[in-house]
Amino acid sequence: MKKFTFGTPETLVPSKFCDAFDYREGEVRYPASNFIFKDRASDCILEFPIEDDCQIFGFGLQLKQFAHRGRKLKMDVNADPVTANGESHAPVPFFVTNKGYGMYFDTARYAEFYCGKQKNPAFSGAASVSEGGAADSEAALYASRRETSAWMSVRIPAAHGIDVYVIEGDSITDIVSQYNMLAGGGPEVPEWGLGMLYRCYTGWDSEKIKSVADYFRANDIPCDIIGLEPGWHSHAYSCTYKWSDRYPDPDGFLSYLKERGYHINLWEHAFTHPDADFFDEIAPYSGDWMVWGGLVPDFATPEARKIFADYMREHLVEHGVDGFKLDECDSSDNTGGWSFPLSAEFPSGLDGMQYHSLFGTLYVKTIMDALGGTPTLGEVRQMGALAASYPFVLYSDLYDHRDFIRGVVNSGFSGILWAPEFRSAHSKEECVRRMQAVVFSVQCLVNAWNYDGIPWVIHECEDEVKELLSVRAGLIPMLKAAFEEYHRTGKPPVRALVMDYTDDEKTYHIDNEYLFCDDLLVAPIAAGTGDEREVYLPVADKWEDYFTGEPVESGSFRVKTEGIPVYRRRK
Ligand code: GAL
Repeated sequence: MKKFTFGTPETLVPSKFCDAFDYREGEVRYPASNFIFKDRASDCILEFPIEDDCQIFGFGLQLKQFAHRGRKLKMDVNADPVTANGESHAPVPFFVTNKGYGMYFDTARYAEFYCGKQKNPAFSGAASVSEGGAADSEAALYASRRETSAWMSVRIPAAHGIDVYVIEGDSITDIVSQYNMLAGGGPEVPEWGLGMLYRCYTGWDSEKIKSVADYFRANDIPCDIIGLEPGWHSHAYSCTYKWSDRYPDPDGFLSYLKERGYHINLWEHAFTHPDADFFDEIAPYSGDWMVWGGLVPDFATPEARKIFADYMREHLVEHGVDGFKLDECDSSDNTGGWSFPLSAEFPSGLDGMQYHSLFGTLYVKTIMDALGGTPTLGEVRQMGALAASYPFVLYSDLYDHRDFIRGVVNSGFSGILWAPEFRSAHSKEECVRRMQAVVFSVQCLVNAWNYDGIPWVIHECEDEVKELLSVRAGLIPMLKAAFEEYHRTGKPPVRALVMDYTDDEKTYHIDNEYLFCDDLLVAPIAAGTGDEREVYLPVADKWEDYFTGEPVESGSFRVKTEGIPVYRRRK
C-alpha cells in the first residue's frame, strides 16, 4: 500500500479521527504517472485511466447498484436515495477493481466519481503530478494514457489536495482486508450480539415488553437482545436520555430482563433536547443549527464526546444497558430535508458536509467510550470511511428486499456491516423469505418498532421462524470465528463472490449471492419473486448443499425451493 499526496490535503479527514489508523508504507506497481491532478478555485480533481476490462466495486453501502463501471457516483450522505447515484447512509470513497488494485481517498467531502468515461484525446496531454511522484517523460505518460479509452475522474469539492492510498493484492478480498487493517481491522463482537435482536413496538410500556420477553422464553424462541424504540425517553425527537413514565421502575425493568438472560439495547439519536441534563454543558461544543429542537453535539471535539459519553455511561451503561441503536445520524434530501444544512459550522472546524460524512462514525466512537470495556454489537444509521473496527451494523428505513440483499453483498467491499432487517410482512411468504436472509447475515435483526404485535404471529409462521432461528443458533460459532478473523486479518465475514473469485468473470455482476464466513455461499430468494432462482457456484471449487451435505455441481443452474439455497465449499 502506498499513499500518494496531491496538492495540500485538508486536515479534517477520516484518518485524523480514526484512533486505530495504521498506515504502513510499501511499494506498489501502480505508476504515479497515471494521475493528473488539478487544483481549482472551488475543488480539486484527480483523473487517471483505467483498463478496458477494469470492473469497479465498492463505495460503501450501495443498495441500488453493484458494478460501477460507466457510472457516476456522489458520496452524498442520504437516508433515502431513490436511484443509483452513489448517495447512501454510508458512502465510502474507496473502490476496488478486478485489476489488482483499489484506491481510498481520505476525504470527508462529498466526492464525485466518474467511473470509466471517455476523454477527448486532445486533452489528455501533460499534467502536473505533484508529490505522489514525478511523471516520467511526457511521451511515456501520453503513451500509457493512449492505451485506454476509459478514465476515472474524482472531484473533491472545497479541497485543494488529497491523499490517495493505492492498495494492491491478488484478489479483492486481499485488497479490502488491507483497507480494513488500515482502520485497525474488524471489530470484536460478543457471541450474544450474534443472536436474535428483537426491537419492540414503539407504543409498548415496560409491562408489555416484559410479557413479550416471557412469551419468547415460554415458547422457546431464541432471543438474546431486547431493543427499545422511541417511547423509553421522556422526549424522543429530540432526545432527553431520561426514562419516560411508561417505565416507572427502569432498574427493576432492566433487572427483570437480565435475569431472564436478555441483553438490552436502547434506541437514541444524538440531537439533544433542552431537558437533557447536559444540554447547557454541551451547547458550546455543538453545531450552530438545531435539529428537532435539539443540539447537534460536535463529536469531533473531545469535550462533546466526554460530556455525552459520561452521561450515557453513568445513567444507562452502569444500569445494565449493553447496546445502542444510534439513529438519525445520516440526513435526508427526500423526506422533508431534516437534519442540519451543509453550511452548518461546528466548533471543531468541520462544516456541515464534512460532519455529515463523519457523524455516525464519531457517534459510535463516543458510545464506545460510554460502554468502556462492555462488549457489544449495536446499530447505527450512518458510517463512512475507516470504520471497520466498530461493532456497529447499518440499517435503513428503505425496505425493498432485492436492495436489502444487494446491501449484504456490497457491504463487504468497504469495511462496514449491514443488516437486512425484518420489520413486517404482507404475507407468510414475505415473512419467511425475509427471515431467511436475516438469519444468514451478520446481525439477526427483527425491528418490529412500528408493529403492535409480533410480526410472524399474525402470518401464522412461528414454527418456520423458530426453525430458522435454530439454524441461526447453529451458525453463531462459525460467525464468531469469522469475526475473529475479520479482527485479526481484515477479511470481512460477508463477501461478494468477486471478492474471493476475482479472476472469474462470471462473478462480475452477481449482486444476489454472497460468501458467508469462511466457506458458505448463500443465495437468498427475495420476497415476492417466487420459489426459483439462478445460482452460480464458482467453478474453481467443489461445493455441497449446506443442509444435506450432498455434492452439488459447480457452475450455473436453477434451483427451486421454499428454503434458502446455501452451499458449502469443500476443502
Ligand atoms: C427510524 C428508524 C427506525 C425506527 C424509527 C423510530 O429513524 O430507522 O428503525 O427506529 O426511527 O422512530
